[in-house]
Parts: sequence; C-alpha cells; structure tokens
Amino acid sequence: MSQIVILTGAGISAESGLNTFRGGGGLWENHRVEDVATPEAFARNPALVQRFYNERRAGAAKAQPNAAHIALTDLGHAFGDDLLLVTQNVDSLHEAGGSRAVVHMHGQLDQALCASCGHRWPSPTELEVGHACPSCGAPSARPDIVWFGEIPYHMDRILEALSQAEVFAAIGTSGQVYPAAGFGEFAQQAGAECHELTLEPSGNPIFDRVIAGPATHTVPLWVAEIKERFATKGRAGPGSDAPFPS
Ligand code: OAD
Repeated sequence: MSQIVILTGAGISAESGLNTFRGGGGLWENHRVEDVATPEAFARNPALVQRFYNERRAGAAKAQPNAAHIALTDLGHAFGDDLLLVTQNVDSLHEAGGSRAVVHMHGQLDQALCASCGHRWPSPTELEVGHACPSCGAPSARPDIVWFGEIPYHMDRILEALSQAEVFAAIGTSGQVYPAAGFGEFAQQAGAECHELTLEPSGNPIFDRVIAGPATHTVPLWVAEIKERFATKGRAGPGSDAPFPS
C-alpha cells in the first residue's frame, strides 16, 4: 500500500540547471509543442524532433541531482514500498540522486523506443533519424518520450497508489498537463491529504497545504516533517506541527 504518492515536475530539476517548460525562459517559449512533441511532428520533421531531444539528452547528462532529489531518496529509504515516486520528468536525476523504482510517466531521455516493434534500449546521446532498432532492424528509433496525444506510462499503477494514498504531494509542477494535473483531485476524493510544493503556487483549491519556494529549500524540510509525522503518529493525519509558516 502506498501511504505517500509524490508527483514531481520540471521545477524539481530547475536548480540542477534544466529548463522548465512554461513561464519565462521555459522550453515551450522557444519551441512549439506541435513542432517537437507530437507523433505528427516526428512524422513531418524527424530531424527537428531528434535534434530537440538530442539537446535535452546532452543537457540532462551533464546535470547533477540537487538537494530536493536527494531528500526524496531519503524519504524513499524510510518508506520503502509505502512510497510511490512518480515523475513527469524525462531526466534521470531522481535515479542519479539514489532513488529506485521511479515511475517515469512521460518516458526517459536515456531510452530509445522502436516505433515499429516497441522495443526499448539505452539511447545513444545522439539519436539519428533512421537509427536501426537493435531488435527488429527497422529504421524507426525515436526518443522514448510520451508525446502529446499519446498515453502516459504506468497509469494503472499510479491510479491504484493514488486511491490508497494518505498524502499526495505535487512538487515543482504547474499542473497544466493531464492526466497528471488530475492526480490531486483523484487522490483527494479517495481520502488523501494533498500538498503542493512549488515556486509559483497553482491556486488549485484541492491542495490542503501549499509550500511556496525553491525545491532545494522546501523539499528537505517537508521530507523531515513527513518522516517525523509518520514516525510519531504511526499513520498520517492532518494538523501535525509543521516547520513551514502556514
Ligand atoms: P512546467 O514548466 O509546466 O512547470 C514547472 C513548475 O515548477 C512551475 O509551477 C514553477 O513554478 C515550478 N518551479 C520552477 N522552479 C522551481 C524550483 N526551483 N523549485 C520548485 N518549483 C519550481 O513543468 P511541468 O509541470 O513538469 O510533458 O510540465 C508538465 C509536462 O508538460 C512535462 O512533463 C512535459 C510538458 O509539456 C511532455 O513533454 C509530455
């Protein structure tokens, strides 16, 4: 049973030097989703799409996990199977920070996917147009990224965990992209207490607690609070003392 479900977004990797998607300087300011992040874009101009993700892959490979990634690893060690860490991020900074069994609902930059047979394999840093699948030989390699119009990965597992969660936390995500944007409401209806940790709060009324600030500051404090709360109370419940101003 997952007592805690965490959903992370681009904001948790921002202080590791990776761009978020929205807002000033975000990736979608300089690139149109329709040009680089849909199956139709890949069919129309595969070179442009491969270049976009080759640049992202090279950037992500240089980035280091930050204090927020590492704090969530610590929480994972404390909770084991009672924590499900779901990320919309396609970087591997949770894993680089020591987290295991991270659920990548939007895929991973370091994986390639055969558009013909569905085989997956570790991506080279530069994925070329027409790169052959090592399993079926088709020249159909694409980044293993869930594009707009495609179904995110692991939805059954995520929804099952959300339906059992006592605490759901959205960290560094704007809540603009479904289905992830609906996880809070789903968890709340199933009885979870919902927390939001982000630089610019979404204003979504489903959140019982909103903790504004940079993830490297807020996440370690929140993790310490959650560990103490579950340790002292056995089970979580609203209204515990918190190190954050309300
Ligand atoms: P967004 O770029 O939409 O939102 C990033 C969020 O992180 C915003 O709410 C910021 O306020 C917050 N933020 C920025 N810096 C932060 C920091 N240092 N600490 C804490 N929070 C910070 O990114 P996502 O919500 O992750 O999908 O975007 C969701 C999906 O949209 C992505 O997975 C991607 C994109 O299109 C696909 O490509 C399929």
